Amino acid sequence: MPQSLPTVIVSAPVPPDLRSAIEAACRIVDVPIGQRLDQAVSAADRETARGVLCTVRTPMDADALDALPAVSVVSNFAVGYDNIDVPRATRGGVLVCNTPGVLDRAVADLTMGFVICLARDMVQGDAYVRRGDWLKGPAPLTADLAGKTLGLLGMGRIGRMVARRAQAFDMRVVYHNRNRDTPSEELGLAAYRSRDELLAEADFLSVHVPLSAETRGSVGMREFAAMKHSAYLVNTSRGPVVDEAALIRALQEGRIAGAGLDVMEREPLDPASPLCAMPNVVLQAHAGSATVETRRAMMELAVANLLDALAGRQPRAMVNP
Ligand code: DGY
Repeated sequence: MPQSLPTVIVSAPVPPDLRSAIEAACRIVDVPIGQRLDQAVSAADRETARGVLCTVRTPMDADALDALPAVSVVSNFAVGYDNIDVPRATRGGVLVCNTPGVLDRAVADLTMGFVICLARDMVQGDAYVRRGDWLKGPAPLTADLAGKTLGLLGMGRIGRMVARRAQAFDMRVVYHNRNRDTPSEELGLAAYRSRDELLAEADFLSVHVPLSAETRGSVGMREFAAMKHSAYLVNTSRGPVVDEAALIRALQEGRIAGAGLDVMEREPLDPASPLCAMPNVVLQAHAGSATVETRRAMMELAVANLLDALAGRQPRAMVNP
């Protein structure tokens, strides 16, 4: 009797050629992106599914993992994996895979995009021209990047990539990280600072830590109060790392000068959020890795991780301890 193909649940935007690669080895059950697998998948498929390919919008918490008893791999189409209960997965023998390394440049590019946009007030400059205000006179002056201090909160792969870019703009780069990044210091990429020193020195504070119990809400009123009034916050990591209510208050009270946000506490951001009405806030729709080339590389890695794990090979990127 021919062996039946293993069932995998796919809740991610897989392009046709990569979908064919999965179909050569598996039977696919499609689930719309963002739906809970313990609710959207039929009982029969939940019992037999061996693998999951999903985005960060799929909660893979204990309930979801409990509902999928035969799953041996969750391949996340993202470098972040805060949607997955990794300790629970590990206890249940489920491999958790992600896509590190292939999106660092894209996220770092967007981070620098925010820094430039904020320093040069580009969103207001654009509105100035469209409104016809230019006909009445030149737009207000903005600020140089050269000589300004970029403070990196978190110094992993993406932080390092941002540091390299900022150096090309003649910025001073300082960082704070749980562990010191000696290679970056030796290369002269960035100088280490205590957390408080970083907050006090940064003209731009850019967040590059993963979301965890420890980092959730870790940039809040205390941090904004410690920053310069002229400083900007940039967040391209995860929204809940920043206490959004505190950020809104800090912006309303002029405690900091503005913010560039690719990620928010709740996504998609409600257009009624006060953030949407602030001229000194630049927003993007969680788009750090959202380029054609980067998303392709991420999906190739996510599919390879899934298929390797199902075939009993060591996946290229695994997050279980
Ligand atoms: C990631 O890879 O973690 C990006 O934020 C996409 O969600």
